Amino acid sequence: MKKIIIDCDPGIDDSLAIMLALNSPEVEVVGITIVAGNSPVTMGFHNAKKILSFLGRLDVPVFVGADRPRVREYVNALDTHGEDGLGESFLPEVPGQEIPDKTAVSFLRETLKEGGVSVVALGPLTNLARLIDEDLEAFLSIERLVSMGGNFRSHGNCSPVAEYNYWEDPDSAKVVFDTLYEHHGRIEMVGLDVTREIVLTPEILDQMKKVNSVTGDFIEKITVFYFKFHWEWEHIRGCVINDPLAVAQFINPNILTGIEAFTEVETSGISMGQTVVDSMGFYRKESNAQIFTRVDKKTFWEMFLTRILGITQSEYKERFAQFFT
Ligand code: RIB
Ligand code: CA
Repeated sequence: MKKIIIDCDPGIDDSLAIMLALNSPEVEVVGITIVAGNSPVTMGFHNAKKILSFLGRLDVPVFVGADRPRVREYVNALDTHGEDGLGESFLPEVPGQEIPDKTAVSFLRETLKEGGVSVVALGPLTNLARLIDEDLEAFLSIERLVSMGGNFRSHGNCSPVAEYNYWEDPDSAKVVFDTLYEHHGRIEMVGLDVTREIVLTPEILDQMKKVNSVTGDFIEKITVFYFKFHWEWEHIRGCVINDPLAVAQFINPNILTGIEAFTEVETSGISMGQTVVDSMGFYRKESNAQIFTRVDKKTFWEMFLTRILGITQSEYKERFAQFFT
């Protein structure tokens, strides 16, 4: 089993990503760290607890991190994720879940120093930039850093050129990408170019409810708001579930393919938050990022659905293969 820390901002798709990770035998989620993003950080903490409670996994520790971006004013995404950050499902608070004294950065620092631990980042990179400030060695000991964020050729979702996680805190994203460049490291960037291909449709959700009504109903509860948002704003019939793809990529690195390129994040002006991907080598700089451009959707959906629904491959083929020809 590979040890991972999930740094996230739950968030509807973050929640689906946590469900996939905790139903995957290849990974051991040693902790969840929360960052301000979709939801304010305290809301994110309690939302993570709601998901862990549903999964019967309150044993997984959750730590609270940055409550605002590095420089900018904090801008949440509750318009997309609902006023409770979980699609206005208004799930009951989990009793007795106090916020621990230990901060997210302290947990990251002490856990990463053990070695052999990866980070799957599903929100703004604020906690990771703070880790760099406080303990560069701990940051550089991350085994694999997989981040849902950014975009290459695909248009943005917060501006024509910027994706939310890196737009909400461009300064932290820049610190992470620049630090990786300076120390010959690399980030596996699961951007909108590939996540936009992962659309949960009403038909898939209906089948999910038929094969596992408990999980299917739960997912419907937290995604119905998200479906409406996607239709109103992007006329998409369904909802783009970005974050689970980053977990899937960690588990099976063949799901995504792309390019290696020097990448830098713009921190100001009209293109603030844009990941500038030097795919042609203009700057003659060593790659610090793997930028994904193609996704094996069938493999993703088989992994995601069999694991979170607890169904066999043959059940999957019977019920779902029709959607992913
Ligand atoms: O732009 C999509 C990303 O921003 C996803 O991680 C979503 O949860 C939000 O954090
Ligand atoms: Ca997220």
